[in-house]
Amino acid sequence: MRMSAGSSNSFALGLAACVSIALITAVVRASGLPQAAPARAVAPAPHAVAPAKAAAGTCLQCHASITKHTVVHPKSTDCATCHVPTERDAHMFTVKQCTACHQMVKPADKFVHGPVAAGECLTCHDPHGTDEPQLVRVFGSELCEKCHVDMKARLAEQRFAHAPAKEDCATCHNPHASPTKYQIRNDGAEQCLACHKTLRKELVTARVQHEAMSVDRQCLNCHDPHASDLGKQLKGTSMKLCLSCHDREVDAPSGNVQNIKSWLETHNDLHGPIRQQDCVGCHLPHDSEHFRLLKKDYPEKFYSPFDPKNYELCFMCHEPDMAKVERSTTVTGFRDGDRNLHFLHVNRVEKGRTCRACHEAHSSSIPKHLRESVPFGEWQLPVGFQQTADGGRCTPGCHLPAKYSRKPTGPVGTAGR
Ligand code: HEC
Ligand code: HEC
Ligand code: HEC
Ligand code: HEC
Ligand code: HEC
Ligand code: HEC
Ligand code: HEC
Ligand code: HEC
Ligand code: HEC
Ligand code: HEC
Ligand code: HEC
Ligand code: HEC
Repeated sequence: MRMSAGSSNSFALGLAACVSIALITAVVRASGLPQAAPARAVAPAPHAVAPAKAAAGTCLQCHASITKHTVVHPKSTDCATCHVPTERDAHMFTVKQCTACHQMVKPADKFVHGPVAAGECLTCHDPHGTDEPQLVRVFGSELCEKCHVDMKARLAEQRFAHAPAKEDCATCHNPHASPTKYQIRNDGAEQCLACHKTLRKELVTARVQHEAMSVDRQCLNCHDPHASDLGKQLKGTSMKLCLSCHDREVDAPSGNVQNIKSWLETHNDLHGPIRQQDCVGCHLPHDSEHFRLLKKDYPEKFYSPFDPKNYELCFMCHEPDMAKVERSTTVTGFRDGDRNLHFLHVNRVEKGRTCRACHEAHSSSIPKHLRESVPFGEWQLPVGFQQTADGGRCTPGCHLPAKYSRKPTGPVGTAGR
């Protein structure tokens, strides 16, 4: 019988013990010291000797363990398909190359995996049988990690590891060869969307699409396929990623898109979320149902009839009462006494001023993120906002210069006239 791994191991141990005992005995003899009691005799391990001849069809009588696996090579009982006798009936063989029957590298495959190129199929496969699918020696990522120790370390050390990378590298990489660099099975977004099906659907149906998904490296513009220390396997903070493209003007279906990077550099009182490097506090990265890829509703036009729903974006983080309550001394600093000037401007059925009439969404060089000017047709009308001790004043093109004061006894402003 062919010995199992276990019994050959104990045989090896027994042999080692024999050798060391013999050595010790030899040393002791040479030293001329009195001999110790003779060592206990070790019984010779049963060792089947390979027969000099082996007739075709008899192989399994002695090598039965070869096929004792849940997954066996379809030819495994037909030993002669691979073991070609070197002499007639002699128990000596040459082994046929796997590639004699399996062309793992197709003509279009420009990228061939190192061990496949070297013909080392057996680093990953057992020729006869295993208990894993496709005769692999170990299933899943562990197989690859035996050689790719750097990747193994990354997946263990970085805070967020992508589920399929932990499970099975071969979902994305062809272990043998592929037409694409790094033996990737499916180039680009298609690979990712095969699993991320909700996103696939959105990318067809959403009202606003983002070209970042289809240009350059597609999903890999922003995500690492394996692991990252940032959530969602991001390659950097959302701000760093966004500004890697929005450092120039770009064309969008809805019109020209400004250079956000240079704007932030020249207007450096940054809005709260941007101070946190968080562009996705307000924007969705992939696609959106809302204007400008925003997370929630925000009016598209300069004027808009008031409905708190239109401002859900700002009211995710700011108090909606600021635009709902006509008189208050608490909900906003933009008031004259208790007259809420946010209400006055914004909460109108006709020509309600949207937040953009006065505020910049990203950053400004004027306090409270106020704008320098507002667009009026082809003109840019200056707002001329100035903060005062208890309020502010502006000299806009919209109306006569006006000021407001939060002091209850303060002078009555002319805002809104
Ligand atoms: C009478 C028992 C017996 C039969 C029949 C037999 N073998 Fe073996 N074979 C052995 C033993 C014992 C060894 C040596 C221990 C081992 O490697 O498993 C061996 C070794 C081998 C080896 C390893 C040789 C090497 O140099 O690596 C191959 C390959 C092999 N046998 C193939 C075959 C094939 C093919 C057949 C049928 C044509 C066959 N054997 C029939 C007992 C047998
Ligand atoms: C699909 C091809 C293939 C088939 C079929 C196949 N072998 Fe092998 N076998 C190999 C290869 C490849 C090796 C490894 C040779 C090496 O290491 O260089 C091997 C090694 C062996 C060895 C020595 C190492 C070990 O795993 O024990 C034995 C014994 C052996 N085969 C016996 C058999 C017997 C018996 C059969 C039929 C029952 C058989 N093989 C069928 C490809 C095959
Ligand atoms: C004599 C031809 C021949 C040789 C040599 C051969 N194979 Fe196969 N192999 C086949 C055939 C036939 C099949 C079944 C049809 C298929 O899947 O292509 C198969 C199937 C397989 C499968 C799929 C098993 C499954 O469960 O679906 C693997 C993996 C495989 N072989 C690996 C190897 C490896 C590794 C070697 C070299 C050690 C090798 N083969 C050598 C003929 C061969
Ligand atoms: C780096 C590890 C690795 C090496 C090296 C490797 N394979 Fe594989 N092989 C796999 C894995 C993992 C699978 C199962 C995943 C899949 O279907 O691609 C597989 C599947 C297979 C299959 C069955 C599925 C198919 O694609 O037809 C065959 C046949 C096969 N390998 C043959 C070979 C041959 C022949 C070689 C040597 C030229 C080889 N493999 C080298 C890892 C490897
Ligand atoms: C036996 C060792 C071994 C195993 C197992 C192994 N690889 Fe490799 N892999 C290599 C070698 C060698 C290279 C070539 C290294 C190089 O070119 O830098 C390589 C290269 C690669 C590359 C290309 C890297 C580059 O920078 O060009 C990828 C991707 C890859 N392997 C994925 C896998 C996957 C997936 C598995 C598991 C299915 C796997 N490897 C299993 C040895 C291995
Ligand atoms: C979700 C798909 C996916 C999975 C799963 C995956 N990879 Fe990758 N891998 C990729 C993509 C895509 C690239 C190309 C990255 C690039 O170009 O920046 C890549 C590149 C690589 C590279 C070469 C570049 C580098 O980053 O070193 C290696 C090596 C590699 N992968 C190994 C692995 C190993 C090992 C596993 C399993 C532990 C694995 N991959 C799992 C998609 C995947
Ligand atoms: C084999 C299927 C599969 C493929 C291919 C795949 N993913 Fe994933 N991905 C998953 C699974 C499963 C999760 C874990 C889902 C969860 O935790 O909700 C995940 C999680 C993610 C996450 C984190 C989601 C979260 O909520 O934390 C991101 C980001 C991601 N994948 C991006 C990608 C990208 C980019 C690619 C292409 C390079 C890709 N995926 C390819 C299956 C896949
Ligand atoms: C412009 C950069 C960018 C691109 C390109 C991109 N993503 Fe994302 N993705 C992100 C950011 C940022 C998040 C985190 C959003 C958050 O935390 O609110 C994210 C989140 C995810 C998530 C987690 C679930 C979710 O929707 O929040 C998955 C899955 C995902 N992306 C897959 C993909 C796939 C697949 C592609 C390519 C088709 C892709 N991403 C392209 C930036 C991007
Ligand atoms: C790979 C380059 C790239 C990256 C990274 C990128 N964008 Fe874009 N973005 C574009 C391009 C090109 C357009 C113009 C075409 C379009 O509308 O999709 C655009 C358009 C936009 C628009 C206007 C969409 C419209 O149609 O109204 C917004 C808003 C936007 N991006 C925000 C972001 C945010 C937020 C991020 C980071 C999460 C980001 N972008 C990352 C390339 C990029
Ligand atoms: C506080 C919410 C908020 C945050 C945070 C935010 N944005 Fe915006 N973004 C908006 C709003 C609102 C608009 C629409 C402005 C308008 O039309 O008045 C917009 C418009 C845009 C546009 C289109 C510009 C154009 O020319 O119309 C781009 C590009 C953009 N944002 C990128 C970014 C980037 C990059 C970041 C991170 C540095 C970011 N946004 C952070 C709210 C935000
Ligand atoms: C994701 C949360 C978030 C969203 C959405 C958001 N903001 Fe803010 N906003 C903040 C934070 C945080 C601050 C900083 C508060 C501080 O410094 O005390 C801030 C500050 C402000 C300020 C200046 C307040 C001050 O006292 O200096 C204004 C004005 C402002 N936001 C307007 C808006 C407008 C208009 C929108 C809708 C287009 C909006 N915000 C959407 C989080 C948000
Ligand atoms: C007519 C101009 C104007 C419009 C329209 C406007 N704001 Fe303001 N907003 C101001 C001024 C001026 C201040 C500064 C108040 C002060 O502190 O003196 C301010 C302050 C703020 C503040 C800081 C906290 C506070 O209430 O004092 C937030 C937040 C804010 N506005 C959000 C918004 C949002 C959200 C919208 C749209 C729904 C909006 N604003 C519309 C002029 C305006």
